[in-house]
Amino acid sequence: MAILVTGGAGYIGSHTCVELLNAGFNIVVVDNLSNSHPEALKRVTELTNKSFPSYFIDLMDRDSLDHVFKEHHIDAVIHFAGLKAVGESVQFPLKYYHDNLMSTTTLCEVMEENNVRQLIFSSSATVYGVPQHVPIDENAPIGAINPYGRTKQVIEQILHDLVQSNPNWSVAILRYFNPVGAHKSGRIGEDPSGVPNNLVPYIAQVAVGKLTEVSVYGKDYDTLDGTGVRDYIHVVDLALGHLKALLKIRATQGVCTYNLGTGQGFSVLEMIQAFQEASGRTIPYRISNRRQGDIATCYAETTKANTELNWIAERGIEEMCRDTWRWQSMNPNGYRELATLAQKG
Ligand code: NAD
Ligand code: UFG
Repeated sequence: MAILVTGGAGYIGSHTCVELLNAGFNIVVVDNLSNSHPEALKRVTELTNKSFPSYFIDLMDRDSLDHVFKEHHIDAVIHFAGLKAVGESVQFPLKYYHDNLMSTTTLCEVMEENNVRQLIFSSSATVYGVPQHVPIDENAPIGAINPYGRTKQVIEQILHDLVQSNPNWSVAILRYFNPVGAHKSGRIGEDPSGVPNNLVPYIAQVAVGKLTEVSVYGKDYDTLDGTGVRDYIHVVDLALGHLKALLKIRATQGVCTYNLGTGQGFSVLEMIQAFQEASGRTIPYRISNRRQGDIATCYAETTKANTELNWIAERGIEEMCRDTWRWQSMNPNGYRELATLAQKG
């Protein structure tokens, strides 16, 4: 029996693979490496001392995916694979709708054909759009404000329809807030291609000297210091949430939706301060205009996940920043440096 992890070479996927293997699960990874490097999977093996099969295929390649299900006894799927850049989704909406929807529907069809009906799906707090109040609970109205978020919203609806059509399915929809941090070893972490879009990877690259200063997008929000407030969650806590969700879907049928966050919000300036303390580096920053599409404040109501999944995020922002810094300083060019060295060699 094995858990299929789609997008297992990616940021959240690789951390979840480590926790699954450490907990004694067998895993099989599928990833097309469009936003990741196979080195991440080598390091998962190094950290856990366990090897596992990996297939570098696209989820939309139905025959190859079916082959994976025929080769292995899969009993549940954790579905991380997808495109995730908000700005890019505004520029290339058709690509986002095509890839995210087609990969998920192909996966569900192949699962159905192979009698595998337990699924965990990576959704996002972005589905809430502009929240009417905080903390945001799972019953808050949804209304994503960009194409990426709308792909998550549509997939959530597809999964509800699927469960409605066949009650043997068991699906957990996990709405992540802002994942940051890295494995404490510093061997795996977030490896954005190009200039990072998200705050914490950007701060980390300023701290390590790759970028000169952080642009703080707006200081006139209705928040404690005028900068945007978010619910940052350590990626290892997030990974552990998937193990709890796995227990849940094994024991129940139907579809359930959970926020995975800490329930606490921190401002941009608080994050910069925390990162300075964790890294011992000065982080220069400049206040700039608001970024289009940003909201003032977003943090989760986590009671449902705490009680129904018996899960709670345990790692605070000091640990998030310390672990990000360890990863960034040990791997200033992410996994790419290795690829370049290998090409030269
Ligand atoms: P990531 O880009 O690091 O990982 C996604 C992985 O999926 C990559 O390794 C990529 O190569 C692979 N992939 C993409 N399309 C594929 C396809 N068609 N077939 C096979 N593999 C494919 O992203 P992440 O940060 O680890 O995010 C994982 C999931 O969580 C995504 O679905 C993302 O939308 C969601 N999510 C992420 C965040 C965040 O801030 N990181 C927040 C909320 C939700
Ligand atoms: N910010 C800056 N400067 C930067 C980057 C970000 O000031 O260089 C600010 C933003 O304005 C915001 C906060 O830092 O106030 C966090 O921004 P991120 O880009 O790190 O995160 P977002 O909350 O905008 O969005 C992220 C992902 C989405 C996901 C969402 C919720 O990009 O895909 O978290 O999970 F949906």
